[in-house]
Amino acid sequence: MTEDIGLFEAIFSQRAIRKLKPDPVSDEFVHKLIEAATKAPSGGNREPWAFVVVRDEAAKQKIGAWYLQAWNAIYGQIDPDDGPLPASLGRVYGAAKHLAHHLSEVPVMIIVCLRGAPPAGSSHAAGAYGSIYPAVQNLLLAARGLGLGASLTTLHKMHEQDVKALLGIPESVETIALVPVGHPIGRYGPTTRRPVEEVTHFERWDDTKT
Ligand SMILES: Cc1cc2nc3c(=O)[nH]c(=O)nc-3n(C[C@H](O)[C@H](O)[C@H](O)COP(=O)(O)O)c2cc1C
Repeated sequence: MTEDIGLFEAIFSQRAIRKLKPDPVSDEFVHKLIEAATKAPSGGNREPWAFVVVRDEAAKQKIGAWYLQAWNAIYGQIDPDDGPLPASLGRVYGAAKHLAHHLSEVPVMIIVCLRGAPPAGSSHAAGAYGSIYPAVQNLLLAARGLGLGASLTTLHKMHEQDVKALLGIPESVETIALVPVGHPIGRYGPTTRRPVEEVTHFERWDDTKT
């Protein structure tokens, strides 16, 4: 295990690390990440999560190819040489593109799943999906704590049925996030976010804030 870092240091420096070394991630680390994820809250304390750990080269190749197809379908037309990207995308574009082209090379993918996915349009959807994302965030923070790199990705969902068939995931289970994990290339945060003053409304909504 690595040296413990403080909670706030982890929160303030956890960011999407998309460039990863091919070196393996130990079973012990993967176990710790999932254990941290399972400490998250969930609606009715139902713990609706399940985690599929993928290290198999052939499976990673297939998932990586589907992910790249999704990337190309959504972002393939963007050429940064044509002019500046929107600020929010500009910060992540290069690294996200790198991940799209190298996803199959990451040492391990952790696919966070929701058991008992709600039917489309169900009023339970917010509670169901909201019961998975805290677990994903715990997993990301735990990765930061262990000195690992990780990011929350969802592009594989354009091939949800293919991914589920490949991994034998039952119909009633939905994949929510694919978290590539590895030893990081590059540094952690600090994360850049809008300041507290800009996003906080005291007592009532302040229309001067966007
Ligand atoms: C719901 C959701 C879906 C996301 N999907 C992807 C994705 O498919 N691929 C990717 O590279 N990053 C994805 N991200 C990561 C965001 O781009 C990232 O959290 C954001 O840019 C902030 O990055 P930072 O923490 O490094 O500052 C997703 C994040 C969220 C919350």
